[in-house]
Amino acid sequence: MHLPSDNMAILKTEHKQIEVKENESLIEACMDLGVPFGCQSGLCGTCRTEVLEGMENLNPRNDKELDMGIEGNERLMCQSRIVKNGIVKIKVSSLEY
Ligand code: FES
Repeated sequence: MHLPSDNMAILKTEHKQIEVKENESLIEACMDLGVPFGCQSGLCGTCRTEVLEGMENLNPRNDKELDMGIEGNERLMCQSRIVKNGIVKIKVSSLEY
């Protein structure tokens, strides 16, 4: 399996993967993967996404996610960062490309 280089991580879906910097916002990469966004600040829930693999590589849920009742394998992508040199796979339900 292709592993990311130092300080980089991989965000991917079933069909596409994007290399992202650790600890940086995932919004841009997620947009490229087809995740819809609204407020981009943890308030609207538009970016709620199922994490299929690598939840342990993401930052812990923050108060905005907890207030919205985000639990299980879901995260708000606008509030998520990959904090470990690893891979996170997400499910993009609508038009994935
Ligand atoms: S875009 Fe609104 S909660 Fe993430």
